[in-house]
Amino acid sequence: MLWRMRLSRLFRDHHVQHEMRTHGRKNGFVTKGQEQRLARWLPKIGLMAEQTLSDCGFSSAAPIVMEIGFGNGDFLVHLAEIEPEWQLLGVEIYLPGVAKAVGRLEDAGVISRCRISQLPAQMVLGRQVAEQQLDGLYINHPDPWPKVRHHKRRLIQKDFAALLVSRLKVGGFIRLASDKPDLAEWMRDILDQTVGLRNVAGVGGFVPRGDDRPFTKFEQRGIKEGRDSQFLHYVREA
Ligand SMILES: C[S@@+](CC[C@H](N)C(=O)[O-])C[C@H]1O[C@@H](n2cnc3c(N)ncnc32)[C@H](O)[C@@H]1O
Repeated sequence: MLWRMRLSRLFRDHHVQHEMRTHGRKNGFVTKGQEQRLARWLPKIGLMAEQTLSDCGFSSAAPIVMEIGFGNGDFLVHLAEIEPEWQLLGVEIYLPGVAKAVGRLEDAGVISRCRISQLPAQMVLGRQVAEQQLDGLYINHPDPWPKVRHHKRRLIQKDFAALLVSRLKVGGFIRLASDKPDLAEWMRDILDQTVGLRNVAGVGGFVPRGDDRPFTKFEQRGIKEGRDSQFLHYVREA
């Protein structure tokens, strides 16, 4: 049975900002069980709005990797399982997605190495992550906003690309995926022109999928609808 999120006030006080407008869905329904898990885990692993990544209990000796827009958490759980040394920061504005991911991270026994935020990635990176603090960044199937008049809502924009680079260590990576060719090319064109980033496939290129990737919900949806995804891999240079 679906249940309106009774924690929303507490959750909003600590996790939601109202200063930045976002266009995707944010709140919604969670099950009672999910609500209980959020109440149990968010005080421990939620990156509160007033916290920074430096004071969230992560070690400075282990890599920190961020996933933006983790959806229901498929990819984040997979990363935590295959990279046991990594500390993971997951950011997702859609509360039911946060709720699903928290449950999956707990079930997989990897939740203590994760921090979760429901704030928009632009705010988390701008205010809570320091320059050169991240070892890597994943962005899988960001919202395509297909209408030309909505392109400005797309996550990857020139300014945001510069922010991403500034938060990466030299040698750190950005990996992206999209099942929408128009969006994949949009992201590639912006990132190819971003100072400090090198496209591993060469300018204009895409990398192969790689067998170690899990199929996220949106990659699977693309396949069902007859679309293969495209993948990008960038490295921060000095
Ligand atoms: C198309 S879904 C893809 C979900 C998942 N990565 C996948 O591949 O299945 C895009 C996700 O990005 C989230 N999102 C959109 N804008 C965001 C932002 N500014 N910060 C964090 N998450 C965002 C949306 O809520 C949505 O869950």
